[in-house]
Formats: sequence, structure tokens, C-alpha cells
Amino acid sequence: QTDPLILFMPSGKRGHFPVGTPVLDAARQLGVYVESVCGGRATCGRCQIEVQEGNFAKHKIVSSNDHISPRGPKEERYDRVRGLPEHRRLSCSATIQGDLVIDVPQDTVVNAQVVRKAAVDRHIERNPAIQLCYVEVDEPDMHKPLGDLDRLKVALEKEWGWKNLLIAPHLIPQIQKILRTKLPDQPEVTEGKWGVTAAVHRDTDSSRPFITAVYPGLKNEAYGIACDIGSTTIAMHLVSLLSGRIVASSGAPNPQIRFGEDLMSRVSYVMMNPDGREAMTKAVREAVNNLIGKVCDQGGVDRHDILDSVFVANPIMHHLFLGIDPTELGQAPFALAASGALQYWAHEIDIDINGGGRLYTLPCIAGHVGADAAGAALSEGPYRQDKMMLLVDVGTNAEIILGNRTRVVAASSPTGPAFEGAEISGGQRAAPGAIERVRIDPETLEPKFRVIGVDKWSDEEGFEEAAGEVGVTGICGSAIIEVVAEMYLTGIISEDGVVDGTLAARSPRIFQHGRTFSYLLRDGEPRLVITQRDVRAIQLAKAALYAGVKLLMEKQGVDHVDMIRFAGAFGTFIDPKYAMVLGLIPDCDLAEVKAVGNASGTGALMALLNRGHRREIEDEVHRIEKIETALEPHFQQIFIDAMALPNKVDPFPRLAE
Ligand code: FES
Repeated sequence: QTDPLILFMPSGKRGHFPVGTPVLDAARQLGVYVESVCGGRATCGRCQIEVQEGNFAKHKIVSSNDHISPRGPKEERYDRVRGLPEHRRLSCSATIQGDLVIDVPQDTVVNAQVVRKAAVDRHIERNPAIQLCYVEVDEPDMHKPLGDLDRLKVALEKEWGWKNLLIAPHLIPQIQKILRTKLPDQPEVTEGKWGVTAAVHRDTDSSRPFITAVYPGLKNEAYGIACDIGSTTIAMHLVSLLSGRIVASSGAPNPQIRFGEDLMSRVSYVMMNPDGREAMTKAVREAVNNLIGKVCDQGGVDRHDILDSVFVANPIMHHLFLGIDPTELGQAPFALAASGALQYWAHEIDIDINGGGRLYTLPCIAGHVGADAAGAALSEGPYRQDKMMLLVDVGTNAEIILGNRTRVVAASSPTGPAFEGAEISGGQRAAPGAIERVRIDPETLEPKFRVIGVDKWSDEEGFEEAAGEVGVTGICGSAIIEVVAEMYLTGIISEDGVVDGTLAARSPRIFQHGRTFSYLLRDGEPRLVITQRDVRAIQLAKAALYAGVKLLMEKQGVDHVDMIRFAGAFGTFIDPKYAMVLGLIPDCDLAEVKAVGNASGTGALMALLNRGHRREIEDEVHRIEKIETALEPHFQQIFIDAMALPNKVDPFPRLAE
């Protein structure tokens, strides 16, 4: 007779174990991540599981409550003190009695704190670099002169198997006080010994583990932050490292904008001002610290309970944040000071979290393709695909990655700020009041709009009323794409992007504007006009993006892509059909074009919650081939061809469909 079969969901991992094996031990042996802080004393409640009911014929096992041991005295005690839902069990206490299907809940909320809806809707298998380990340390004995810290290490080795532990130096003078602190509200923590919880950090299996924090009694929560430092916006998630839940998410403007709107002007600021680098480093670190304060307030978390942090950023933001002079990134050969992943104590970067808090930055792919692109690559995984995936993150620089399981290539293209609404008359960033959608009637050439924050279409007549209190402030990047595409579809502009002046006879919306013609989008206040210059700015931006993509397609030897992923805010609002009408992206099945939001931030989150993902992206970044578009001899020609709508030479068969 074989041992019972255990299946863990949602991972699907399974194995046979002898009757009487604690479920937690089975999970460990199968590599299923089940948290445990108390080391199986049935006091932390972190190891909760659910026994699934029903007939699991597919897996040839049937769960029933007879197949798991009944609640023992330890579990009953936990239920009395902390409360254990009826359908939940403590996997450290419950033992296997027969075939079982076990559900490992992803939301074990022990302290009933406020938990917001997950901002990132995906399951991330957990294996954080931080582990909380409760131990009972022997009290001192005159005959055994081993120091307090050393007895803590002995206990951590005996109970948790940690060998060769190092300790964060700031803890050494505090350790005696922490060990001698008794917590009156923890009756279940054993009397007579010093119960403490140590946070142990180990990033790689080969690196020596560090004790980074020690708390009196049972400490049942630890947090991490995942942060994406963009040139314009800093975005952050605050996450429970023990349950994987996102507790709060927020964003703030990058205050470096006052030193220069785009990346290159910030590099120039460093070059022209002797203390420019310091000033910008200080500004971004302050903003990150303020944002930590904000997410902690939102989540009701003490910032000193943050023990780990992961950052992604484009190369220049990455360097400035870490206090590295970015001057070399401003000129060929665009040398990064460090391209690999980096590890710091957070306080070395002036980040105000726990004194032993760690800081990890994802690797940069190239001088123009940063740790943010690496984060997006980790999140979307072109290298995990059989099909050819195009991943683009459009900002003032478009970061482009194209590849599949076999080969991945990456480049950046200087799209400029036109897609973000800058440099366009009436252009603005996406915000309430900005026009986000535009349609033009092919007969009358009259426009219809939709404004962010107002959920209905309107023509100019009913516009004020429709916009209501939100009002109209300008036109955002996604609408600029649409209006130019609609102008093309209705014949207002030619394939070369020239506004057709003869239409002025047909509609007052086309009017002469100096030596060229413009289209009057809105006659109210503010008056919104699409000028010939605006159309050119969009053509230049889209040609830069497309030319970068095309070069990568040539490197891959493909004439089409199978799927397109738009990362970043731009992609969230853009209508893929219009992007294709303009020839911004290559021809692709529209069902395979998707916006994936802040993929860089999701990548940072994955690296925070699972150190395996850190190794994954560190390895992949080595394999990604970097292409410097400016050095490719025929880049200019591809670029010029791409100025036409949708393209002078490349076919877009799907547009005809
Ligand atoms: Fe702590 Fe089970 S491991 S309650």
C-alpha cells in the first residue's frame, strides 16, 4: 500500500507522504511556499491552509476531513487566543491521514489590518529574501560564557537551520535589551526562555545569511516596498512579505522635473552645476521617503516594519537615485557605472525604513534600456514565450524588447515627449479634463470627443454640458494619436501627413495658419487646434518608435510579430487600432495587442516577493542582445519610410480587414 498522495493548490505540486506527516513538512519538501514564523509552535498562524472538499478524480485523490488529523490542543489554543476560521487549519499541527487536496490561501491575514484590493492582479509565487524566525534563546548561565548574540545564533541554527549567520552591525549594541524585553500581551510565548523573532535576510543561496532585525516575542508581520522611479512619476507598492498582499499603492511626481523635464536635460544639469548630481539625488530620495510615508499611512503600517525594498528605474534615474554621476550616460558609448543588480543597506541610500532594511535594484539591460525595462521583461516574460512578443514602454524614450524563448533583442528609441502630450499645442498629460477620445465625421469633418472623467461622447454643441464640472483642459497623448489617425482616415491629412488646404472650402474646421493649414478641434475655451506642426511631431515620434521596432524585427529575421504588449500609462489609454492606423506599431492581430499597465512596477514586485525572480532576470539580462539603433547604418532610411502614414514600404494587411 502506497503512502497518501497530497496535492497543493494553486501550484499543483504533489507527492506521497507517510501518515502522520505534518502538512507543513510535506509542503516544505515539495517546495510549496507556506509561511511559518513560530517554527511550528502553533502561535503565529502564518501556516494556515484549507482542505479542499470534493472529488478530485482528475488527480485521483479524494479529500475528506477524515484524511487530516482533527484539531489538537495547540490549534484549539491558537483558535481561542487569535481565532482560526472553521475551514482553516494550521499546517504545522495538522497531519496527513489520507489523500488530500490542500489549498494554500494567498491572503492569510493574521492581524486583520486594512488590506486593499490587489493593485496587481496576478499570482506571484512567494519566496522572499526575508524570513521571520521565532526562537527561544537560552537565558545566560555563569558556567557557559557564550554571549547573548551567540546564543541567539545557536538557537537560530538549531531551530531553523541557519548556519554562518552574520548580523547587521547596528543591532549588536541593542541585542541585550531586545532579548530581555518581555511582552505582556503574548501569553502563548513560552515562559522561562527569551522568545524573540529574528528577521533573516538571504538573497542568494550561496550568500551568507544576515540577521537584519530582532524583535522581542513573536513578530508576525514584515513589509517590503517595490518602487519604480520614472522620470515623471514615482510609483510604489507596499506589500506584506508574509502574505504577499499589496497593502497600499501610490505615486508621486518625480521632483527632479524642476532640474529638467527630460532625461538629457537632467544629465546636462549635472554637467553644468558642480552640486547638480547631489541636488538631484537628494530630491529623488526625499520623494521616495515621502512616498513611503504615504503608503504606510494608507496601509496603517510603521515604516520601520519595512525590511526589504526593490527599485527599478531607467538608467539615468537609477544612477541619480544611487548617487552615481550619470554623465557617461549622456554620450556614446553610454557606459553604465554598474549594469548588474545591486544590493545595499537601505540607509546607505538614505532610505528611511528599518535600520536593517535591505535595498535591491534590478539589473540594467543597456545604457538606454534600464532596470525599468528589465522589470517589464520580468513581468511580461518575452523570453518565456514560444511566440514573438513585442514589449514597448513608451515615455520620452521608448524602450523596446522583442523576442521569444530562443532569442531576445532590445533597443531604445528617442520618441520625444509628443506621445505624452508635450510639444503639442493644447497637449497635456492624461488627467481629468483632458480629451481622451476623438472621432471625426468623414462627411462633415465635425469632431466628437470624450473627456477623462466623463463617460459619454459629445459633439461640440453639447460639450460644455457633457463635460460638466470636470471641464476641458486640453488633449492627452492617446487622443492625439486618435485625432491624427482620424484626420488621416477622413482625408484631412495625406499619407505624408500634410493637411489638405483644399478642404477649407468644404469645412470651416480647416483653416490657413501661416503657410500651412490646421484643423480646429474645438472652438470653445480652451480653443484646441491641431496644427501641421503637431502632425509632424506625432509623425516623428511614431517613426522613431516604429524604426526601433523594425530594426529589432530585422535582427530577429521576422516580418511580423505575434503579440504586442504596451507597458506604462501611455499604453493603458491608447486604442491599438489607431496605433496601427498611424503605423506606430507593426501589423499584428489586434486581439493580441494588450496594455499591461506599469509592468516595470510589477517586475519590481515579483523580485520583492520571490528572490528566484531576481536570479531569473539577472540571468536573462545577460542573454538579451542590445542594439544601438543610432549606429545601425540604415536606421535613417527606415525612419524616413516610417514617417508616412502608416508606412511608405511596410504593408499593414490587418488594417484592410
Ligand atoms: Fe506558526 Fe504553524 S507555523 S502557527
